[in-house]
Amino acid sequence: MSPFWKSLSIAVAAVPLLAWAGVAVVSAQGPWVAPADAKAMKNPVKGVGNAKKTIETNCVSCHGASGKGDGPAAAALPPPKPANWTSAAVQSHSDGEIFWKISNGRGAMPPWKHLPEQERWEIVNYIRTLKGK
Ligand code: HEC
Repeated sequence: MSPFWKSLSIAVAAVPLLAWAGVAVVSAQGPWVAPADAKAMKNPVKGVGNAKKTIETNCVSCHGASGKGDGPAAAALPPPKPANWTSAAVQSHSDGEIFWKISNGRGAMPPWKHLPEQERWEIVNYIRTLKGK
């Protein structure tokens, strides 16, 4: 085979491989775990402030009016789906871990670092009120 055809066939063979690797990177979302120092962060805020309003504006489209992860936008999203805040899986996390996830986001979950820290902690406190609901 001439060098041209050889390199062309290698390039063609690489296309599906690259496509597959891209899909694997996007879909290989294992468990989402916060770093240890984030998990250990103490919640300095009491009460929920205006969290309900903030959540209605920013989160309900995905997480649903009752926080079960069933907002109108959730159906269109590929897995992992928006978290169910009432679930044992979410409620078993420390305040610091939930705060960190809200701040940093992952995949379809946007980062919310632009919300003041106080508001992010109030959101954590609000999510706590949904335990088992
Ligand atoms: C565009 C859709 C979307 C919006 C808007 C959104 N989320 Fe999410 N959220 C997600 C998705 C998807 C996940 C799951 C991410 C994953 O597991 O990789 C998630 C996960 C989470 C988790 C992690 C739960 C856990 O313990 O793993 C928390 C907490 C959370 N969202 C809070 C919020 C808050 C608070 C807001 C609003 C300020 C918000 N989300 C807005 C899509 C969204």
